[in-house]
Amino acid sequence: MEAFNPMQYNITSVVSETMPIATVPVLLLIGFLFLMWTCEEATTIPGPGYCMGIGPLISHWRFLWMGIGSACNYYNKMYGEFMRVWINGEETLIISKSSGMFHVMKYGHYTSRFGSKLGLKCVGMHENGIIFNNNPELWKEIRPFFTKALSGPGLVRMLSICVDSTAEHLNQLTESAPKPEYFNSLNLMRRIMLDTSNRLFLGIPLDENKVVLKIQNYFDAWQALLLKPDIYFKISWLYKKYEKSAKDLKEVIEILIEKKRQELFKLEKLEDHMDFASQLIFAQSRGDLTGEMVNQCVLEMLIAAPDTLSVTLFFMLVLIAEHPQVEKEMMKEIEAVMGDRDIQSEDIPKLKVVENFILESMRYQPVVDLVMRKALQDDVIDGYPVKKGTNIILNIGRIHKLEFFPKPNEFSLDNFEKNVPHRYFQPFGFGPRGCVGKFIAMVMMKAILVTFLRRCSIRTLKDQGLNHIPKNNDLSMHPDESQPLLQMLFVPRNNVSNNHHGE
Ligand code: HEM
Repeated sequence: MEAFNPMQYNITSVVSETMPIATVPVLLLIGFLFLMWTCEEATTIPGPGYCMGIGPLISHWRFLWMGIGSACNYYNKMYGEFMRVWINGEETLIISKSSGMFHVMKYGHYTSRFGSKLGLKCVGMHENGIIFNNNPELWKEIRPFFTKALSGPGLVRMLSICVDSTAEHLNQLTESAPKPEYFNSLNLMRRIMLDTSNRLFLGIPLDENKVVLKIQNYFDAWQALLLKPDIYFKISWLYKKYEKSAKDLKEVIEILIEKKRQELFKLEKLEDHMDFASQLIFAQSRGDLTGEMVNQCVLEMLIAAPDTLSVTLFFMLVLIAEHPQVEKEMMKEIEAVMGDRDIQSEDIPKLKVVENFILESMRYQPVVDLVMRKALQDDVIDGYPVKKGTNIILNIGRIHKLEFFPKPNEFSLDNFEKNVPHRYFQPFGFGPRGCVGKFIAMVMMKAILVTFLRRCSIRTLKDQGLNHIPKNNDLSMHPDESQPLLQMLFVPRNNVSNNHHGE
C-alpha cells in the first residue's frame, strides 16, 4: 500500500526496487535522443541536427575553416540543394535550386544581406556604402546614386574609356619590354579596371600600383572578417592586420575625395563635371549624406571592378589560351563586324560569339559564386517555411552547373547556343538587390576583351590551365598572386592599327 501512496513515496528506493540500475542511463539516453528529435522536427528543412548547440558550432566552424563557397558546396552535396545550417547561431539556408534563387532575387523582402556586424564595422561597411549595407532604409537612399552613375550617359562613355585605357596599358607594356615577355596579367587587369573606374567615377590622378595593392588587401580583410564570431574581435592582435588594411585604403580614398572637393570648388561650370563622386559630394553639402557615407561609396565604386571584372577577364584570357578554336571564331567575328577599327557602341549587339564566350566563361569559371541575403519577413520558399531573420546563401555557381546546360561541366560555347531562360543563369543576380553594375560590366568586358584580342594573342606558361589554380572558393575567387598561371605572354598581332575609334 505504501508504494501506492505518493506522499510516502521514496523515489530512489522505488526505482532501485522496480528496475535495474542500468535502465537509468538508458532512460537518459532516450530522453536525450527525444530532445534531439524534437529539435530537428521543429524545421522540416534538411540539415545537420541541433544537438544541444553542437550542430551550430560545427557548421559555423566549417564555414570559417573551408571558406564560404567550399562549405556551401559541401553542405549542398551532403543534404541536398535546399538545406539549413547555422552561421553565428543564426539559421542559414543554402539554396542551389533555380526556383528558390529566382524567388529570393525577385522579391523586395530579401533586400538585406548578413554578416558579422563587428567585421563589417572594421572594414567600414556596417550600415555604410552599398555592397554590405544591411540597413534597408539607408541602402534604399544610396542605391540610386549607383544606378544613375552606372547607366545612361556613363555607360556609353565607359566604352571608349575602356578602349583607350586598355590600348594605353598595352602600349606601356610594349614600350617597357620591346620583346614580348611574361608578366602578371591579373595585375594588368586590375590596373585597367581601377583606371577606367577612376576616369568615369572620380577623375583624380592616382598611383595605380599602390592603390591596386591596397584594394587587394582591403578585399582580403573583408573576406576574412565577414563571418567571424564576436569573440574573435575581443582579441585585437587577431584582427589588427585587417583593420590596418581597411584603414590604409580608406585614407587614400579620403585624400582623393578631398582633392576632388577642391577641384569642384574651383570650377566655374559644374555641368560637365557631374560624375559619381561630385553627385555624392553635393548630396553631402545639401545634408542628404554623411561624409563617411560619401567616402565609403566612392571606395566601393572604385573596388567593384578591380575585385570582380579583373579576375573574370583574367579567367577569360586563360580560357582563350586553352581554346584556340574559340579564339579563332571570335577573331573572325571581330574582323567581320569592325574591320580595321576599334569597337563602338553599335558593334556591341552584333558580337554574338564574343557575348557567348563571356557568358560561358562566367558560368564555367565564375568570380562570384554566392549571393548572401536575409529574409526581412516570414515567407515560404519552394514549399519550405522561412522565418523572418533567416540568412540565405544562394549558391549560384552550383546552380549554373546543375540545371539546364547541355554540357554543364565542360567549357563549351554550345551551352549558350540556344537561348538560356532567365531563371537558369544569373551571374550578376537580378531584382532590387541585384548587381547594380551588371550592364556596365558587360560593356566593359566586351570593350576590353575585343581591344585585347585585336592587339595581341595570349600564351600562358606551358602545362598550366584553369584546373591548376587552387580553388580558393570563397566570397569571390581571387587566385593567389604567386600562381605561375598569372604570368602571360602577349604576342602583338601585326595587322592591328593603333587607330583609336577608327580615326
Ligand atoms: C564580372 C563582373 C561582376 C560580377 C560577376 C558581379 C556580380 C555581382 C553579384 C552576384 C552581386 C550580388 C547580387 C545580388 O545580391 O543579387 C553584385 C552586387 C554588386 N555589384 Fe556587381 N558584379 C560585377 C561587376 C560589377 C561592377 C563593374 C560594378 C560597379 C562598377 C559592380 C557593382 C556592384 C554593387 C555596387 C553591388 C551591390 C549592390 C547592392 O547591394 O545593392 N559590380 N555583383
